This record gives sequence, C-alpha cells and structure tokens, in this order.
Amino acid sequence: MLIASGGVTLAGAVAACAPSSAWAGSSKSDSKTITLMNWEALGSQMWLRYVKVRDPHLLAQHRQHVTAIVVDNVDAHPVYRHTADLHMHPGSHEHLVTTSLQAARDELVHGLGGLLGEDVPVTPSAGGVPDGAVVVGTPDTSAAVRRDVPASAFRSLGADGYLIRSVGHGANSHTVIAGNTEVAALYGTYGFLRLMQTDKPITGLDVVSVPKVKSRWLDNWDTERLYAGNNATGTGGLNGENGSIFDFAATGASADKNLPVILDRYLVVARSLAAVGINGININNVNANNAYLTPAYIEQEAALVDALRPYGIRLALSIRYDAPTDQRFAPDTLTADQLDPYSDAFRGWWNRKATEIKAAIPDFGGFTVKANSEGQPGPQDFGYDHGDGANGMAAAVAPLGMTIFWRTFVYNADVDPDRLKRAYMEFGPINDEQQPDGTKGRFADNVLLQTKNGPLDFQAREPINPMFGRMENTNQALELEVTQEYTGQNIMLDYLAPMWEEALKTDTHATDADGKPLRHRLVGDIVDGTAQGQQRTAMVGVANLGNADDLTGHQFSQANLFAFGRLAWDWTLGSRRIADDWTRMTWSNDRHVVPTIVQMMMGSREAVVSYQTPLGIAHQMHADTHYAPGPSETLARPDWSPTYYNKADSVGLGYDRSRTGSDFVDQYFPVLADRYNDIKTTPENLLMWFHHVPWGYQMKDGLPFWDELVYRYQMGVQYVTWMRKAWDSLEASLDARRFHEVQAKLAQHEVDAKDWRDTCVRYWQQFSGRAMPTDHGPTSIAVVIGGKRYDGFDLSADSHTLSVPTDASPRISRVIPADRAASYRILQQASQVPGKAVVEVRTQAFFGPLEKDYVFDLELAS
Ligand code: GCU
Repeated sequence: MLIASGGVTLAGAVAACAPSSAWAGSSKSDSKTITLMNWEALGSQMWLRYVKVRDPHLLAQHRQHVTAIVVDNVDAHPVYRHTADLHMHPGSHEHLVTTSLQAARDELVHGLGGLLGEDVPVTPSAGGVPDGAVVVGTPDTSAAVRRDVPASAFRSLGADGYLIRSVGHGANSHTVIAGNTEVAALYGTYGFLRLMQTDKPITGLDVVSVPKVKSRWLDNWDTERLYAGNNATGTGGLNGENGSIFDFAATGASADKNLPVILDRYLVVARSLAAVGINGININNVNANNAYLTPAYIEQEAALVDALRPYGIRLALSIRYDAPTDQRFAPDTLTADQLDPYSDAFRGWWNRKATEIKAAIPDFGGFTVKANSEGQPGPQDFGYDHGDGANGMAAAVAPLGMTIFWRTFVYNADVDPDRLKRAYMEFGPINDEQQPDGTKGRFADNVLLQTKNGPLDFQAREPINPMFGRMENTNQALELEVTQEYTGQNIMLDYLAPMWEEALKTDTHATDADGKPLRHRLVGDIVDGTAQGQQRTAMVGVANLGNADDLTGHQFSQANLFAFGRLAWDWTLGSRRIADDWTRMTWSNDRHVVPTIVQMMMGSREAVVSYQTPLGIAHQMHADTHYAPGPSETLARPDWSPTYYNKADSVGLGYDRSRTGSDFVDQYFPVLADRYNDIKTTPENLLMWFHHVPWGYQMKDGLPFWDELVYRYQMGVQYVTWMRKAWDSLEASLDARRFHEVQAKLAQHEVDAKDWRDTCVRYWQQFSGRAMPTDHGPTSIAVVIGGKRYDGFDLSADSHTLSVPTDASPRISRVIPADRAASYRILQQASQVPGKAVVEVRTQAFFGPLEKDYVFDLELAS
C-alpha cells in the first residue's frame, strides 16, 4: 500500500519541481523530495537510480567534464503516434516524449542531475559546443556529431549501435554520443550514464557498442508465471488490477488505469529496457487470449506502443492458431475446416488481421505462436506439420514486413517416450528437407523458431537444446526465462546470468555439411548468426515484470531482467561483470557492498541447482506451483511428473538417455553425443540428465554417488546460510527499506532450501536404503569435548545431541574440520552440562562460500 500512497504524493512532488532534474532528489531537502526518496527506496526505479557520486575526487572530475547537455533538433523527428489524446494517468511523475532524442535529453537531465548533485543545463549548440558538453545525436540531427566523428565511424554501427567519444583535450573537451538513428543515440546515452553510475572514468572515451542480435525481445506472459504482482503473494494484483505490468481490463478502483491511459510504471519499464537495449515486447501470454486481437484491445496496444516507441520498443502479439474461428471476430470468421495453412481463406484472414493491426501500429513486429503444445491448437489438428503452419502464417504477414516467432516448445507424447527428443524430431526434418529450388529447409525466411535454452523447460540447469546448430537452414531465436518459474520465483535470490552465460558459451561442436567442425560454434555464435549465416537473429526473454513496487517481485529479480538485456545485446559479456554493473547501479558503489553482493549473486544459481536438482536431476518441483519440492509426484501425464524424470529405484537415480537408453544423446553433434553417452565423460553436473546413476557409483572425488548427492543438497543450503549472513553484514551501508525486504526473503529462502534438501533426500533414501553420509562433507567437523572425540554429524540436522560424561569439562577443546581449507569459530561454549555450544564452520565450495552452524546440545551421559 505504501506504493499507492507514495505514488500519489510523489506526483505532487514532481509536478512541483518539474521540469528539470527536480526528482533527482539528492540535493533537495523539502518533504516532497523525501516522498520521492521513498519511491526510489521501493526499488521502483530499477537501475535508473542516479544516486550522487560519493567519491569526492570522481565527483569533482565528473563535474568538470559534464557541464552542459547539447541535443540539437531534439523535436525534429517525432515518432509515429496513433492515439490522438495519449495521456498519462493524472498525478503521474513520468512524462510522455515524442522523440528518442527527447528521451535521451530528459534522461541526461535527470541522470546527470542526480549523479552530480546539481542541475546540468540544456544548451543549444548555436554558439559552439561548450567545454564539458555532452552532445547527443545522429549525423543527421547534429552538426557537432558530423564535425566531430567521421562518417566512416558510423558504417559498422548498423541501426542500433552507438559510439561515445571524448573529443578535444584537457579543459577544452566534450563528449559525443552518437549513432545512425535516434534510438541508437538513446542507447549510447544510457551507456554513458552507466559509466557514471558504475564509477567509471568518462574521459578519454572511445566506446563502440553494436548489438550482436537484432531482435532483443521480451515475451510478457501477463499473469501466467507472474511473481511480481502487487498482492501479498505476487501472483495477482490489488484494487482491480490483475498484477500484470500493463492494464487492459482492470476493474473497480483501477478501472481508470486501463490503456490507453499511460501509467508511470510503463515509462519506467520503457526507460529501463532501453537502458539495456531491449527493443520489443510481445505483450500477451503465449497461451493466447484472442481478446488481444479485438479492435478495442488493438487500440489499447497502439496507445501503449505510442508511449514506448520513442524508447525504441516495438510490439508483437501471441496468437492462437485457430483465432479465425473465434466468434468475437464475426462476421469475419472461418470455420475449423478452413484452417488449412495453404488456403487463401486462412492466409487471407491473418493478412486482414495483421493489416488491421498495422493501421494502428505501423511498426508492429508480428506474431508469436505456440502451436500443438500443451493443449494449444495448431496445424497438426488439421493434418499439417509445423512447417506448413508457420509458413502459412508467415506468407500472410510477409507483405506487411512482419515476422512469425514459432515456438518449438512441443512435446507430443506420440512422437517418442522421451519428452526431450520430441521437438527436434518434429522440427529437424523440416529444416533438412530438400526444396524444389535446390535449397534445403522449408521454413520461410520470415519465420524464426523460438527455442528454449535447454531441451526440457527452463530448469535451473539443463544441457543445451540439441537444436542449436542442427537447424542451419532455419532462423532461430533463443528463448530464456527471466521470470523465475522454476528457479525460486519471488522468494529465492537467484541470479540467472551465470546459467545463461553457461548456455550461450557451450560448444555445440556443430559441423558443416562435410562433417568439419565450424570455426564459431558456441550456442551464442549460432544464435547471432555468425556460425551459420542466419540474417534474422533474436533473443527472447520471458519477462518477470508485474505491477509490484519493485516491478519484478524481488529486488534481486531486477538483476535478471538487466542481465537478459545486456546478454541479448552482447552475449559474450561475462555474468560477473553484469552483476557488478547492476549492483553499482542499483545498490551502491561502496567498496564493501559491491564485492559482497556480486559474490552472493554469482553463486546463487549454483546453490539453487544444488539444493533443488543437483547432479543433473531435473523437474522435481511440485506440479502446481513449480516452487516447492515434489519428487514423489506422479501425475496423469507422465512427462509432467517428477517420477518420470527421476526414475528413482533401488539401483539408482536419473534418466538413461544414452544409446542403450532413450538415445537422446544422438541428437547432439558427435563430440557431445559421445561425451554424454558415456557416464564417465558426462560432466557430473549433467549426470542424471543422461544416466541412471547407481547409488554406489564412484564420483570423481572418490565418494559414492549417494554421498555426493546428499552433500550437494546440503551445500546448497549452506550457501544460502552464508548469503543470509553476508547480507546482514551490509545493513549499515544500504537503504533500510530494501535491505529489510531482501533480508526477510533470504530468511524464507533458507527455510525453503532446507525443505528441498530434506524432502528430496528423505525420498531418495527410501530407494537407496543407505545411511546419511557424514564426515566427508565440505563443512564436516569432529569436535573434542572432555578429551572425547565426537563426529558422524548429519549436516542436514539443525542440532546434535552429545552425551558428555559427568566428570568431563563441557568445553569444546578442539574442532577438527574434514576439509583442511575450512575455517571455524566457536561462537558459544557450554558452561555446564546440560548446555549448548555453537560452532560456525566456513569453507569455499566450487561455487562460493558455505556456512554451517553446528548447534550442540550437551547432555549428561547416562
Ligand atoms: C512452461 C510453463 C507454462 C508455459 C510453457 C510454455 O511449461 O509452466 O506456463 O506456458 O512453459 O513455455 O509455453
């Protein structure tokens, strides 16, 4: 509720101070500004916080080099606007702009004002570019850009790439931010602000940044897998809003918030997305509701994209294949037997619909289609395959310059008993098909197959989807799930970029037609077209946006959206560097804060893997929520069942996909196929994706599989314990509201991680019949009390009861860690028996620090 009231008061505050950098806040001290600070304290500004630079030296330097903002012809090229009376919701603090250069100028006014703690004037360049100016534009809009940057420098930038250059020397210098388009100049503006937000120098700049992938899109599933709504659970909304980021049909108290009215959060999102280079949003769930194709909704969509367009954001829609049969479109409807994708009726209908949309949204991107998947209709219902269906739609919209994103998330059980094999078995042959004109591959040029990173469904770790590299005659889009459906939702702190980095940098070992390895063949090379020459390239993130205060449901989930955008722009970036940027932009540049938060983030995903699905076990979530553990569940549909994936029995655990099993391995190129086929060469973190691993199988560290498995579950929890404490150590350096919010989530995170560990281990133990392993875990210890050695501690236990002889001292005289690298502290000694002693043990796992607190209840030996 704070947000609603905060928002209202805030609006007044901003109106009072507008239009300059009034809401930068830091240098103002009136009560309205304090309300504004509250707004920022909620996390509502994401990574656009622009807090004043704290290092006095850097601040002085920045102030010297940033003295004016020059954006010539700022109003000259208004973007298309369909909605005549486009307007903000009354009392908003964001404002609409009509050009990308206005967006850039306003961001500089706001951002520089905040970072420097003083207003930076906007000046025309008529009398020459002043020293310390920040000049933004294109060769077309700015004489200064034309003068300062040779035309040749723009050749490699394409439509979206930008450059940032320091021009001149010493006191006589200024900064030029430019691209071929106004949107590119806006991207550059955000790039420049990011340098300042992350305490980087802004002198001697010669930055060139060009995105590797053309379509950097979000799929907004509106309320499906929503964890960022503003109700108590995050899965819905309050006051008639349904929790979605965009309001199309809010009711009650929020009925006046529906599009075409523009809300503050839409523009915060637009600015935040532009800041990381995202250039499109597919507005509705892939399990599509035809309402989004009705005239009333199209008007609303047009209004939304009118507001987003200056930020370079385009719009697309998800559709149902059989939408033409929906009576809402009467009299222009088809019957089911007219859904033949080759028919004029079918293509004509989609062409008419797309034309209608284009009339309101001239830069409309096209349609995303989930067909013949999870109950959605598709061409197979009418005797056709995915190629026929996709091409039918593609032909209908090609004359309008639109694209079809056809999803490959299909797993028809008739195709193969192993769900993982099914998609490639359906799509591969269409890619390989010889065409009458001598070419190969049937998918049309304006079709992109949208494929999840792994072959299953957004698990915390998956092997790569074997389709990457195998679809050389087809355009492919990589789909990543930013919303944390299977990875902790809005409770767990789980930074996903290391997972995406792992996928993008996996070597597919793809070969050419002669079986020769391609020179560039990482998943990222395939996706960006370098490997196999596709011209249409895309990365699509399933968005985690909602109407919650922080817009993503967890302060740290913002990092995933940020990282998705950065990787979509440049997949070669490292996840650590992205975490570092995000931390500085979102939390602080403090020398203590940055490394701690970055370290927490970097190991957090591996921790989730560890306590949820270690060593390659997958899909063990409770079927309804996809959050809590459900390893024993068997559902009506086998391939939705945890038991289908774990195959737990007295022999071992995991799904045999080797050549003697389902032979999924042979969908990979030979190097990977051979590697995964052999249990000895399969990476241990993927073991159970490919093998039914015997309980006694010897792992690389010499431990039996069962022992290793249990230790992994425990390590995951111990990492969360460490994170919780590390976070506590930051309290004095962070703003209270966000600190406490995250602190509370980490407490719940730890409880839920323990639930995962205990539920899974208990269930597996019924099959392994083995005792809990002790003494060889990374945080295992023995202790000596009264000359007696105590060991054999189950690391999952919250406390341990020790029987101490009557005459013995209750003090712990020695702690003996199993791992020599482990350190410990005796936090509490028992002064008598009965009594309590506490020992904290820390060590370093391959993914980060672990912490285990041993609580010893001392009782008298009988
Ligand atoms: C997952 C998710 C669904 C979603 C589906 C998809 O299975 O649970 O909500 O519809 O993926 O990607 O289509």
